[in-house]
Amino acid sequence: MNHLIEAARFARENAHAPYSNFKVGAALEDLNRRIHTGCNVENATYGLTICAERVAVFKAISGGLRPLQFRRIAVVADTEELTPPCGACRQILWEFCGDIEIVLANLKGKSESLQLKTLFPRAFDGRFL
Ligand code: THU
Repeated sequence: MNHLIEAARFARENAHAPYSNFKVGAALEDLNRRIHTGCNVENATYGLTICAERVAVFKAISGGLRPLQFRRIAVVADTEELTPPCGACRQILWEFCGDIEIVLANLKGKSESLQLKTLFPRAFDGRFL
């Protein structure tokens, strides 16, 4: 678990966050224990910003990982209260990872593990279409 947090911490260093100065790193572990990292990438339009979690998921997909199955994701930010994924990221994580374990951590060594379902109950997904 610590190596996953460490990977997210390193990924956070690459964050492009000149507008918010709020850097986030993510590390997504697949079933073969390979790690796909992400950081937030901001844009002058603000709205085109993409979060660290979604970058990690999309990197795994675009890198050709199949089947798309994941064990857990670590999310690291420099906040006292641990930073959870935003609503858009919860939807994307649900689509590609299902009820995945989410490990939240900060730079001071505080961490907490929870399941996506507790953050995102009664999700809309492909079953409704
Ligand atoms: N952000 C993430 O990358 N992940 C989160 O879980 C929360 C928010 C980013 C988006 C934006 O670049 C900055 O943090 C402030 O919202």
